[in-house]
Amino acid sequence: MKILMVCLGNICRSPLAHGIMEQMANEQGLNWEIESAGTGDWHVGEAPDRRSIRSAKNHGIDISNQVCRLFRISDFDEYDHIFVMDRSNLSDILAKARNKEDEKKVRLLLGDKIVPDPYYDDAQFEPVFEMIEVGCREIIKQLTTI
Ligand code: 4NP
Repeated sequence: MKILMVCLGNICRSPLAHGIMEQMANEQGLNWEIESAGTGDWHVGEAPDRRSIRSAKNHGIDISNQVCRLFRISDFDEYDHIFVMDRSNLSDILAKARNKEDEKKVRLLLGDKIVPDPYYDDAQFEPVFEMIEVGCREIIKQLTTI
């Protein structure tokens, strides 16, 4: 299984989703490949936001080696599922879809709820971590139940 986590900047939410999903999948012995990307290019090549690094570290997850990159059309071919954080990520990615197959791969991480952008509010990083954790747990349950 190959999963791509997507947000706007690829420095706050999707790196957390990448790290959390990777750890959960590993703990369950699932041989899943997780990556993340952004729809905006401001931080390409950078490490995750230090507040996301700290939040992950507080939960025993090291995301400091991740490197920000842009979403690319070939990601539709590369990944089985593409999880986005909010509705603008959803419309940005769906706008790049080439066909129904591409579209079917894209879903909100929280199903019908959004993971809000914490970039301008330090206090949002911990709640965002917890929301993403809940979402990842649910996705693992869904994708491992036949
Ligand atoms: P993210 O947060 O989408 O969760 O990575 C953001 C990070 C940076 C910016 C916006 C959102 N920015 O405008 O630089």
